[in-house]
Amino acid sequence: MNILLLGSGGREHAMACKLADSPQCEHLYVAPGNAGTAAMANHYGQTIVQNVDMQPTDFPAIHSWVIKHDIDMVVVGPEAPLVAGIRDYFAEQPSLRKVMVIGPSRECAQLEGSKDYAKEFMHRHNIPTAAYRTFTADTLQEGIAFLHTLKAPYVLKADGLAAGKGVLILPTLEEAERELTAMLKDAKFGEASAKVVIEEYLSGIELSVFVLSDGKHYKILPSAKDYKRIGEGDTGLNTGGMGSVSPVHFADKHFMKKVEERIVIPTVKGLFQEGTPYKGFIFVGLMAVSNHITGKIDPYVIEYNVRMGDPETESVFPRIKSDMVDLLEHVWRGNLQQTTLEIDPREAACVMAVANGYPEHYEKGKPIHGINAVSGSLVFHAGTRMDDKGNVLTNGGRVLCVTTLATSMPEALLKSYQELAKISWDGMYYRRDIGQDLLKLEVSK
Ligand code: AMP
Ligand code: GLY
Repeated sequence: MNILLLGSGGREHAMACKLADSPQCEHLYVAPGNAGTAAMANHYGQTIVQNVDMQPTDFPAIHSWVIKHDIDMVVVGPEAPLVAGIRDYFAEQPSLRKVMVIGPSRECAQLEGSKDYAKEFMHRHNIPTAAYRTFTADTLQEGIAFLHTLKAPYVLKADGLAAGKGVLILPTLEEAERELTAMLKDAKFGEASAKVVIEEYLSGIELSVFVLSDGKHYKILPSAKDYKRIGEGDTGLNTGGMGSVSPVHFADKHFMKKVEERIVIPTVKGLFQEGTPYKGFIFVGLMAVSNHITGKIDPYVIEYNVRMGDPETESVFPRIKSDMVDLLEHVWRGNLQQTTLEIDPREAACVMAVANGYPEHYEKGKPIHGINAVSGSLVFHAGTRMDDKGNVLTNGGRVLCVTTLATSMPEALLKSYQELAKISWDGMYYRRDIGQDLLKLEVSK
């Protein structure tokens, strides 16, 4: 099978490794890929891996490439091509209709593309989430009045995609009023904040659950937690993610049963019943909230994403033992129930290293040393490129991560840090406390 994978981050490098591992995968093209996927060319004997200089949202270029290279399956990494309707584009072109596109339709992608759409969907299907209301410039005064009925902190969300910056959590009513006005009246996030969702603040621990759906049937992938803030102790600015661990121990079988019954089943069923069956990965961002009456923890949906998480994929995918190409083929054919999902019982810890200054201004083009010295762990490239001489250079804020599988989380973390210490570049930074909050939680129980 010839497969085209769209994207260039650590998520895509981790996905590329799983796809290339499949005996079914003859050619794997990654567009545009990074130095990590470029280096795969030499490591996957049976599978030919190659980067392609093509952007994931350039549908006409993808169209020609798919025809010319006889592509059987397109796997979509990031959300942008999905929100722009790549799935529908393929369905509308007679020459592309047979190609298996792994990712939801434009309509389903609204679950990530519009917060209001996602909230209304959850409301229709009784899926637990924070109470909310949506406002526009015309209803700004009602929005301000609504803020007065809530308690601090205040959660304001730009409706559309705002490069991960559209959610504001504000400690005072004055700031919330000011920001709501800036979003609605002054287009603080452009078109994305033409509508703003105001919602109840949920206090708890966040985790990510991933679901592979064929429209009707589903498989729940291992749980994971990512670390979004730049600074240790979850301080400082939000980033794309500074590390991840899988599984999340407190998400035990009782908690996951609630997730499945209250969230996964109504989501997959709800989309099916509404005539928009979802084929692809669903990322459910959850808040585990303590119920003061029962003393148990309950899951609430914070957000849906229509793709895998990054850097969660870098700790979740290495734990999947099943043939990924086989699973995705079943997704396309709508018979996922006929396969099994086999998970490696070992635990995974991923630590991301970033460029100095990230998530604000940072420099690119720094030579990276020591990658080949890493052994017994996996290195996934995120923002890297290879120069003409084969040197690997930094080419983004999040540069690369090291993932280790081990029999316990402390072991996995220790080894990831030991191996990451072998790698260096000018200005390299990483958090040293990935996973520590969860380990402390277990000690305090
Ligand atoms: P989102 O883009 O919806 O994932 O929001 C970004 C981050 O804001 C989340 O990862 C949470 O940490 C936080 N957040 C979003 N909604 C809420 C909420 N209702 N209560 C508490 N924190 C929230
Ligand atoms: N790690 C969070 C995300 O991929 O959005």
